[in-house]
Amino acid sequence: MTTHPDIAQLSFLVGTWEGEGVGIYPTIDDFSYREEIAFVAPPGKPFLKYTQMTWRAGDHPDAGAPLHTEAGFFRSGGTGRAEATMAQPTGIVEVYEGTVEGTSLRLRTITVERTSTAKEVLSVERNIDVDGDDLSYEMWMGAVGQPHQLHLKAKLRRS
Ligand code: HEM
Repeated sequence: MTTHPDIAQLSFLVGTWEGEGVGIYPTIDDFSYREEIAFVAPPGKPFLKYTQMTWRAGDHPDAGAPLHTEAGFFRSGGTGRAEATMAQPTGIVEVYEGTVEGTSLRLRTITVERTSTAKEVLSVERNIDVDGDDLSYEMWMGAVGQPHQLHLKAKLRRS
């Protein structure tokens, strides 16, 4: 069974990706991280399954220790449109809509929900660009009373 036609425009994401990123935010210390991402297209299904794991990198004393992890699903929102849902272990769930143009994905949350003890996150934006076997992304967020701004920037390579 082949890839579902509805997600053909997202097939550039399919694969396992590894690389490094940096994180910043006005309220925290800058950090660097190693990351592994997998986008899987279950045969015949109209979605991609997304899983991600990260580890602290650089010369930090905790280098190698697990950091953030998340999981979700990506689907088409019609020609040139994409939708995604993602869950964080920190009590946060994101619902995204956006555009797909060639191998560039632009997603922004239409809803962020949080458990009662989760940190305040009001908006998240993910911009993903693939060039052959190179993937780069930026993640922006409005959180903990701060205006929407960059939290993460990373470059990964298809393995
Ligand atoms: C590659 C993925 C990510 C990594 C490696 C990462 C890493 C980090 C680190 C190391 C901190 C500082 C923690 C501390 O000092 O206590 C942090 C803070 C934070 N991150 Fe991320 N993060 C990631 C993705 C996300 C996502 C997807 C969200 C929201 C949807 C998010 C929201 C936050 C918030 C709200 C804080 C707290 C800021 C504060 O309390 O001042 N992060 N992140």
